[in-house]
Amino acid sequence: MNDSAFLSGVALRKSYGSLEVLKGVSFAVAPGEFVCLVGKSGCGKTTLLSILSGLEKPTEGKVSLGGKEVSSSSEDELALFRREHVGFIFQSFNLIPTLTAWENVALPLFPMNIPKQQQRKRAEDMLGRMELSHRLDHLPSALSGGEKQRVAIARALVNHPKILFADEPTGNLDSATGEAIMTILHRLNKEENVAILMVTHEADLAKTADRLVRMKDGELVQ
Ligand SMILES: Nc1ncnc2c1ncn2[C@@H]1O[C@H](COP(=O)(O)OP(=O)(O)OP(=O)(O)O)[C@@H](O)[C@H]1O
Ligand SMILES: [Mg+2]
Repeated sequence: MNDSAFLSGVALRKSYGSLEVLKGVSFAVAPGEFVCLVGKSGCGKTTLLSILSGLEKPTEGKVSLGGKEVSSSSEDELALFRREHVGFIFQSFNLIPTLTAWENVALPLFPMNIPKQQQRKRAEDMLGRMELSHRLDHLPSALSGGEKQRVAIARALVNHPKILFADEPTGNLDSATGEAIMTILHRLNKEENVAILMVTHEADLAKTADRLVRMKDGELVQ
């Protein structure tokens, strides 16, 4: 395993019944690195992200994240670890429709012993950095796609994770809004040194990463 890697997966295999989705993938991300993962629909990108982030267990192989052996951790340990050290953003934003923007951002803080006022303050700070100070009390239904994704980014970063997993974060956005989201991700990567592993279908966005990794039929091809 690569010692300088922050995230590493070794010989990862994943099968669903007789369907072999990952066929022995080894892959590492260095601290603060911005990596884009590309490949055709169904080749296994989301599956790889789920396994590397500890959301799913591999059928075979090992994952280590921030010095923790993910594959041998209990579900409870993993849930806690994810909440404290890992951020996620998704194509469909995954905001809770009945919570306001600031409450969505504060969501990862709810299970922690942090007073409500402080939760709001931290959410406000993050939303301010996303230039959404004027949208704190709006419900997701009253926000544009780009605004929703900025709320989702604020939520992913409210715990200051060392790594952000992003699964097609610009997939539901028009190209100008997608580029704006990409600019924000690059800024966070540089300013906070947060590592980013992002899946995208868009070649123009992918080529702005530090490194491009291509997947084909459950294997990395370069
Ligand atoms: N829980 C599951 N049970 C059974 N099959 C699954 C499951 N999750 C994914 N698959 C299958 O595994 C393969 C890879 O899926 P995955 O979601 O990783 O692809 P992807 O590369 O992210 O595709 P896309 O670009 O369309 O999002 C697909 O054939 C999919 O149908
Ligand atoms: Mg996918």
